Amino acid sequence: MKGLPGFRDFYPEDAARRQYVWEKWRAVAERYGFSEYDGPTLESTDLYAKKNESGAEILQQLYNFQDKGERNVALRPEMTPTLARMVAAREKNYRKPMKWFSMGPCFRYERQQKGRLREFLQLNCDILGDGSTASDSEMIALAIDLMREFGFAGEDFVVRVSSRKAWMDFILARGVSTDLIPSVLQAADKLERDHEDALNARLAPAGLTCADLREFIAGGSPEAFAPLLADLKARGLDGFVEIDLSIVRGLAYYTGLVFEVFDKSRSMRALAGGGRYDGLIAALGDGSVDMPAIGFGMGDVVLSNYISEHPAASAALNQWLEAHRGCDVAIVLVDEAQRPEALGVLQALRDQGFSVELPFQVTKVGKQFQTAEQSGARHAVVIGSEWPLVKLKHLATRTETQVPHSELAQSLRKGQEHGVPGRSAA
Ligand code: HAM
Repeated sequence: MKGLPGFRDFYPEDAARRQYVWEKWRAVAERYGFSEYDGPTLESTDLYAKKNESGAEILQQLYNFQDKGERNVALRPEMTPTLARMVAAREKNYRKPMKWFSMGPCFRYERQQKGRLREFLQLNCDILGDGSTASDSEMIALAIDLMREFGFAGEDFVVRVSSRKAWMDFILARGVSTDLIPSVLQAADKLERDHEDALNARLAPAGLTCADLREFIAGGSPEAFAPLLADLKARGLDGFVEIDLSIVRGLAYYTGLVFEVFDKSRSMRALAGGGRYDGLIAALGDGSVDMPAIGFGMGDVVLSNYISEHPAASAALNQWLEAHRGCDVAIVLVDEAQRPEALGVLQALRDQGFSVELPFQVTKVGKQFQTAEQSGARHAVVIGSEWPLVKLKHLATRTETQVPHSELAQSLRKGQEHGVPGRSAA
């Protein structure tokens, strides 16, 4: 039977790649002093639908159903409403600003296409309780450093920065009634993707056209971004950023700065996107907690596609995969009769933190060595007629020593000290 469209199987080689993305995401977020949190994958549909804070598009893409207790539930399409709900409930327990990150699956009933699946992983980084430009730029710097961590450079990607506030000012100055604002923003978000006539029809009730929106975008007001750009310049990161008012973002809750990360050739969907959402926590709590917030989400799908298309990024991935392949020690057992001795060695080394494998069935010694090498093991330990001495072989250099089995762990550790590569932290 086949799996569902838009859902992925992770075979070991896929899981290893996922682990690579996972580790880098966590490493960079922690470097910025973010703490990890998590929430449920299933939420009440009301979290997305009741106040329609996320916007109409997300509602159409909701994976929702009624559970056996007749509750209306939805698989989370994004993390931000969950985060806002959690923060509104327990905000008093945490010092501000709160810098939180989370990594996990999100679900959207979208048409499967390049860069878009129905289940994907998303890293979310958010700063809550600070409304200053300093947290805006910290967020953008984090997005830039995430990209750099995977091996992408200034010629590869750009962070396009815009302002929902500038858009709101423009729309309100045109006398558009507030109930029509979401549809104008949605049309603006689709300006490069949807058909002009369809968009004009959507804009007509607000008395606007695509041409009006383009004129606003072309006449942008970069002065408002000067403090942000000065902050990024002081970090040496201003070269990664472009002011581009064509960025609007599809989600409804943004109130100020918005941004998206793109590959420079613009052949792919956005790698990440986010912005400031100063009203969401008040809207999703009981209203007593109100707090400025900014954050972004980065998905693993477009990112992984881009890594595989980019020589330096895929070389870094392959190097990581190679270093994380195989175990520290493959035991080579010459004679089945010595399995008890081999099992003793196996357990002793594992107890000391080494990763060790012992074949379930004895085959020819040459075959066992071949299997060990192919699996990426770093050492082989041969248990044979010289017992209690064993042969320790470093597989890459083919250097061999004979040691008493009781000193194996010590020898392995010494090898690591002398730069013989090994993964175990033992
Ligand atoms: P978003 O732009 O909807 O923002 O999603 C962020 C990223 O998630 C996208 O740039 C893309 O990489 C990935 N993504 C979204 N949908 C899919 C999909 N169907 N398949 C694969 N990847 C996808 C948000 O979700 C906001 N909640 C981000 C945020 C956090 N804003 C503030 N804090």
